[in-house]
Amino acid sequence: MGILDKHKVLEKNATLLLVGSLLVVTVGGIVEIAPLFYLENTIEDVEGVRPYSPLEMEGRNIYIREGCYVCHSQMIRPMRDEVERYGHYSLAAESKYDHPFQWGSKRTGPDLARVGGRYSDEWHVDHMVDPQSVVPESVMPKYAYLLDRPLDGEYIEDVLRTNAFVGVPYTDEQLENAVADFKSQADPDGVVFADADPGAVVDRYPGAQVRNFDGQPEVTEMDALIAYMQMLGTLVDFSTFEQTPEDWIR
Ligand code: HEC
Repeated sequence: MGILDKHKVLEKNATLLLVGSLLVVTVGGIVEIAPLFYLENTIEDVEGVRPYSPLEMEGRNIYIREGCYVCHSQMIRPMRDEVERYGHYSLAAESKYDHPFQWGSKRTGPDLARVGGRYSDEWHVDHMVDPQSVVPESVMPKYAYLLDRPLDGEYIEDVLRTNAFVGVPYTDEQLENAVADFKSQADPDGVVFADADPGAVVDRYPGAQVRNFDGQPEVTEMDALIAYMQMLGTLVDFSTFEQTPEDWIR
């Protein structure tokens, strides 16, 4: 009796076939699901990656609200053309605090994963107000109204707490100082809000950029959005970062 003949026994007995199918599906299911329980191990810790500062988080929310991800990805694939154009390919760790992640699925505009520091704040303001004024053939819409929408960090502590709830490791100190840090980062000279303490922001969020981003005295949505863009891809120092072979095997 050949192996196929043995299989016929299964095919002709409904109960046996059911039990057999169940067995196969169970094994397949375990193979697919078990690794998910060890997801933590698959994301290597990378020095420099930290949760978003309150101002950056606000900018990120505006980025999501305005649907920037519809035209922009934030994920550089490990292929030569991408790496040469945008910089080091994206690491899993770089989006580990993203809820939701902004990898995107369409590039009408360029990838923004490493746009931080590529342009000046003034360039960003000009570009957001009227993209065609800096890139004449651009199809990007104008976002000038962001300059007229003031912010005072009213809900930012709740936003940070919500992120902490889903696993972002904000400390109690960071949560309690969310509003103060929000104001100090965008208004370090205390022009609009009193008691600015920009040093504390940098202590709590290493590498945070502290300044008036949009150049006008009020703190607006433009400040938050530019603060977010200027930090994208800047947390990891790729001049010292090395990926070891073990990282790949793990
Ligand atoms: C309809 C598609 C579209 C949308 C929506 C869009 N963009 Fe763009 N964006 C583009 C295109 C096309 C370019 C390239 C031309 C240019 O620089 O304007 C671009 C360029 C950029 C650049 C310069 C990137 C570089 O490396 O040169 C930044 C920064 C940017 N967009 C940010 C944003 C932000 C922030 C939003 C949301 C508020 C947004 N974009 C929404 C299409 C879009």
